[in-house]
Amino acid sequence: MGGAPDLSFSIQPGGSLNGTLQVPGDKSISHRSIMLGALAEGETRIRGFLEGEDALATLAAFRRMGVRIEGPDGGRVLVNGVGLHGLREPGGPLDMGNSGTSMRLLCGLLAGQGFPVTLVGDASLSRRPMRRVTEPLARMGALIEASPDGTAPLHIRPTAGLKGIDYALPVASAQVKSSLLLAGLYAAGETCVSEPAPTRDHTERMLRGFGYEVRTSPGRACLTGGGRLIGCDLDVPGDISSAAFFLVGASIAPGSDLTLTQVGMNPTRVGVINILRAMGADIEVMNPREAGGEPVADLRVRSAELHGIRIPEDQVPLAIDEFPALFVAAACAQGETLLTGAEELRVKESDRIQVMADGLSALGVEVEPRPDGIRIQGGPMGGGHLDSRGDHRIAMSFAIAALRAQAPIGIADCANVNTSFPGFAALARGVGLGISEQHP
Ligand code: S3P
Repeated sequence: MGGAPDLSFSIQPGGSLNGTLQVPGDKSISHRSIMLGALAEGETRIRGFLEGEDALATLAAFRRMGVRIEGPDGGRVLVNGVGLHGLREPGGPLDMGNSGTSMRLLCGLLAGQGFPVTLVGDASLSRRPMRRVTEPLARMGALIEASPDGTAPLHIRPTAGLKGIDYALPVASAQVKSSLLLAGLYAAGETCVSEPAPTRDHTERMLRGFGYEVRTSPGRACLTGGGRLIGCDLDVPGDISSAAFFLVGASIAPGSDLTLTQVGMNPTRVGVINILRAMGADIEVMNPREAGGEPVADLRVRSAELHGIRIPEDQVPLAIDEFPALFVAAACAQGETLLTGAEELRVKESDRIQVMADGLSALGVEVEPRPDGIRIQGGPMGGGHLDSRGDHRIAMSFAIAALRAQAPIGIADCANVNTSFPGFAALARGVGLGISEQHP
């Protein structure tokens, strides 16, 4: 699954983005729709499910644990929930591929089952830190064995019982928060998680949508174990993290006027819009509405003269996946952009500070990577051959950068774009990006 350096992009410089497009479904919500649908009683009908490799890894894992799932078919999935105690032991390790969300959330969800299970992942996922979930889960009574480095594979054994804890997250992470809340479904008493800054709240919202009581106050979520989830119908909005490439692309490419329909606008996800607007972007939020318990809107974005800013640290968790694209915006802006407080970027699918700094400097942009962020001096961009290091969001960010480059850009190792955004190249081509794909 993913990982193989068997696809490259080549993109002609210049052009503009025009027309209307709909990005695929939200990755975070798609994962959770399968997980909660599987643990619910009765049927869950999902529309707009993201058929990308990450969410499909989650879906495959639940099939392996005995859940009958029909689809995906054009974004439609029917999950026949087995209830909180209906999962069965899979006949071998569960492969999470490139997906940190699958591994971290399932680690919590599976800590309270009555069977042993092993979670494995690809080379990138096997390097990513897992102690952030295994340590608090151990405090709840979970029996999880990781490698000596605290990485996957994760061997989870059944425990006599989990107990709720009150945990203050050391890093702002929705994955850790969600992992503990999912373990909390199986724990005696109350599980509470406090976060140092607000992170995406899809788990809390969706648990409520499945009829489970979650008590929230700003920066804190609590639930009590032993309840039930009831199957429901779910509409997955478009992924703002996928929309981000087009928000940046249309902003930086002169002559652009692009409308993105049905984009998820959850307040814990809109950092990319806040940051781009602070840089001078022209983004109009149209027709705001509610779909499946999440705010959605259409976004019209027109090209604008961007200027560098100091990115407010409170926006970092709200735009955590969008920084590779935002760095491209910064490279095209007048003046300097400074990001601080974002050390988490170093432990994503790649070290996103270093890999973006390497690629931008290869394009002739002046950058200064720092332990917790980066300084980028806007200026002209050349072309050249870059490597995404197997990171989907880096591949798509450099593809968009070509809109302002002075020569073609080639990007190696792009197969993992399919983890979050299948069909990216065709969709981008349809609105004006001169992108072609090369399979060896
Ligand atoms: C996610 C949370 C974020 C994000 C990831 C998806 C989620 O990770 O980067 O792509 O669905 O909960 P962290 O919570 O580790 O920041």
